[in-house]
Amino acid sequence: MGERKLWSGEPVGGNPFALPRGPLGVAAGWVLARANRRQQAEILEALAPGHYRSVLEVGCGPGVLLDLLASAPGVEEVAGVDPSRQMVSMARRRNAAALRAGRLRVHPGSAGATGEPDAAFDLVVTVNTVAMWPSLDDSLAELYRVLRPGGRAAVSWHGASSRFALTDEEDARVLAALRRRFGAAERRELGSAVLFEARR
Ligand SMILES: C[S@@+](CC[C@H](N)C(=O)[O-])C[C@H]1O[C@@H](n2cnc3c(N)ncnc32)[C@H](O)[C@@H]1O
Repeated sequence: MGERKLWSGEPVGGNPFALPRGPLGVAAGWVLARANRRQQAEILEALAPGHYRSVLEVGCGPGVLLDLLASAPGVEEVAGVDPSRQMVSMARRRNAAALRAGRLRVHPGSAGATGEPDAAFDLVVTVNTVAMWPSLDDSLAELYRVLRPGGRAAVSWHGASSRFALTDEEDARVLAALRRRFGAAERRELGSAVLFEARR
């Protein structure tokens, strides 16, 4: 991502992977679906989904993790939000059967404004979006709001081996912001990702 200043209050723009738009955005969606598949599977395993009935994925991109979540044991209701129209369409197409079956819905929304009701989810997960949030604190407040008491927030980003890895300072800021909002938070490293977790 070159020189970057995260969480400055400005919405992301310009990078088709950060906010996929137009025909280039659709191409970016195909690349994302392929490039991040392994990470999504690792995250699903780390989340051990047997304990969650309702799950929200924020910044679902082309919908690969939504697909895994919709067929995970114990999960009855899955919602996905993304600010990109192209990603919402791709995620809906990829998950057409679960949508038809009423187990999944996907709509426009962002980490700062999911459009979901208070205390609605057992798990809120977001993968490779935290660096795109205009504000860490505002977005974490929104994730907190839509979680049920006792519900889990899981924020994942590319791991240390990736050229997109967070700097130590950015990494520490995510953990500190989670602790501010949730009271406690943990960080662990998976094979290809870092996973920050907290409970409401
Ligand atoms: C790098 S892609 C990751 C997509 C998918 N989660 C994955 O891991 O493959 C970043 C995604 O974040 C979305 N995004 C951008 N700004 C966002 C925000 N403020 N809140 C939530 N998602 C955002 C983009 O539209 C895009 O789908």
